[in-house]
Amino acid sequence: MGHRNTDSVIELINKVQDVFTSIGGGKESLDLPQIITVGSQSSGKSSVLETIVQRDFLPRGSGIVTRRPLVLQLITLSNDAPDYAEFLHVPQRKFYDFDQVRTEIEQDTARVAGSQKGVSRQPIHLKIYSKNVLNLTLIDLPGLTQVGFPGLFLSYSDTNSHYPFFIGDQPADIAQQIKQLVLDYISKPNSIILAVTPANTDLANSDSLKLARQVDPSGKRTVGVVTKLDLMDTGTHALDILTGRLFPLKLGFVGVVNRSQQDILTRKPMVEAIKAEERFFQRHPAYKSVANQCGTAFLAKQLNNILIMHIREKLPDLRSKLSTLIGQTQHELAQYGDAAFAGKVHSGSLILRLLSLFANEFVASVDGTSSEIST
Ligand code: GDP
Ligand code: NA
Ligand code: MG
Repeated sequence: MGHRNTDSVIELINKVQDVFTSIGGGKESLDLPQIITVGSQSSGKSSVLETIVQRDFLPRGSGIVTRRPLVLQLITLSNDAPDYAEFLHVPQRKFYDFDQVRTEIEQDTARVAGSQKGVSRQPIHLKIYSKNVLNLTLIDLPGLTQVGFPGLFLSYSDTNSHYPFFIGDQPADIAQQIKQLVLDYISKPNSIILAVTPANTDLANSDSLKLARQVDPSGKRTVGVVTKLDLMDTGTHALDILTGRLFPLKLGFVGVVNRSQQDILTRKPMVEAIKAEERFFQRHPAYKSVANQCGTAFLAKQLNNILIMHIREKLPDLRSKLSTLIGQTQHELAQYGDAAFAGKVHSGSLILRLLSLFANEFVASVDGTSSEIST
């Protein structure tokens, strides 16, 4: 199977995800593979996503910035058209200015999760179209925080009825809420976990690796990402973890260098940041021998390969689910009759049409056999 074919498979899968999102509100799901970032607050999760996309578009900073799941679908543009973004909750508007994408994320986060520091489970759906991206679906999640703040005074706030107990301006059970949210996402057996750990902390005690191990004990769907390699003490390095000697993971570790807070403030261009990252690995005495397996570009390629392998493995299962779903939809449509529920019939037929189109293209492009799924 050629590269083009596998890429088009991912495109088709993305289409079906869209159909489900726009109709069912998650009631039905094909349980498709997704890549999920997990890590402690400020470990560099959002930065990793930005460098993969090669765009500034995410709210970043210290403390809890990401307060809702962000489902980010990357779609490769084959022509030279300018990059743009679309939100599911802002229909029919193309965002060409990525500063406005960030503003929209911030505003919709505040609208749904409040202006306090609460988290919400309700995701933001964002698509980015660019010729610089591979076809991937990534999910950015709120950062893990330490449980408990012993000695701090718990105050009752009647201004926020959702989370009555606050420590400072954070709900008292925020650590638990976030941990549960993360666990819910990464527990799905076909999710791929991007376990982010900053190199300037104790790697052996990484929160993200511990949590990943809980749901993926054999490490077969966890990719370790080590950030902030540039911030390690002079003379120290993370080669032991990058080569898997310290913490074995089947899919391995990738070291990256994201933009620093200073780079963000001075708006260092993404292209320059990627070049600087490349130079860092090629010139570093400890990393130059493994430089071709380091960096954000390598990580993006790895992720695409992993996703394709994953989809291939799930193919038989996906196919039978699809077939069942088409059967159910047909059955529902048959019950509506002619006059009543015209709107429903219309949207139902559309879904059915999309699904069977998907099924046929899917089967043809993936295993070359003629389609058993028809309507
Ligand atoms: P998140 O909370 O995990 O999403 O982390 P962010 O991506 O918001 O990053 C937190 C801070 O760490 C920001 O100021 C980033 O600029 C900084 N940062 C992230 N990765 C790196 C890195 O590899 N090197 C350096 N020097 N700073 C980084
Ligand atoms: Na942060
Ligand atoms: Mg973040």
